[in-house]
Amino acid sequence: MLNITYLSHSCFLLDDGENQLIIDPFLTGNPTATVGPDDIKAKFIALTHAHGDHLGDAVPIAKANNGLIIAVNELADFVAGQGANAHNMHIGGSYEFPFGTIKFTIAHHGSASPDGQYMGEPAGIVVKMGGKTFYHTGDTGLFSDMKLIGEMDDIDVMALPIGDNFTMGIKDAMMAARFAEPNLVIPMHYNTFPVIEADPYEFSKKVEAIGIASKVMEIGETISV
Ligand code: NI
Ligand code: MN
Repeated sequence: MLNITYLSHSCFLLDDGENQLIIDPFLTGNPTATVGPDDIKAKFIALTHAHGDHLGDAVPIAKANNGLIIAVNELADFVAGQGANAHNMHIGGSYEFPFGTIKFTIAHHGSASPDGQYMGEPAGIVVKMGGKTFYHTGDTGLFSDMKLIGEMDDIDVMALPIGDNFTMGIKDAMMAARFAEPNLVIPMHYNTFPVIEADPYEFSKKVEAIGIASKVMEIGETISV
């Protein structure tokens, strides 16, 4: 069993009843977030890339909870330099943590810290936790290797950006769902800022029309899979 809570933008909290993993904890300065970093008790923090709307509050959350930040090498070194515990990984690699397994995938995007330093490659994250597989695609354009990722692992839940401009829009995200064939699709990375306005229900309808279940999550909502 895996509980998935959507905390807005690309931020999800995964909880298997024992451990908590937060992905891309952008809360401070996020106009749509309903909780702050002090509300987060997760001991594990995974990052798709270093852009401010993903790195977010990772370092303060890690420090407050004696937690561990899991990221690609360059970004892991960066957060370690800020005093957080970090586990360095890279694309294609997987590692078993106390909560389960993380594997980093490719993502077509960029990655720089808020002060403009190069932070390695952006990534997607495949998490196996609570007997389920959750694929957080990060910020990315569409790529056909999502088909391969879906073949390698039976994906229960896939989180896809739909806000366009910086990432896939609705049409490309629909194709991404078709490639990876997850059991359930959750849209993310939309309506946080005017430039990424998108209708998640339009996306949801289109995904359902190709035979894949989808769920538009309210901010703060939890689902169990
Ligand atoms: Ni980004
Ligand atoms: Mn982003």
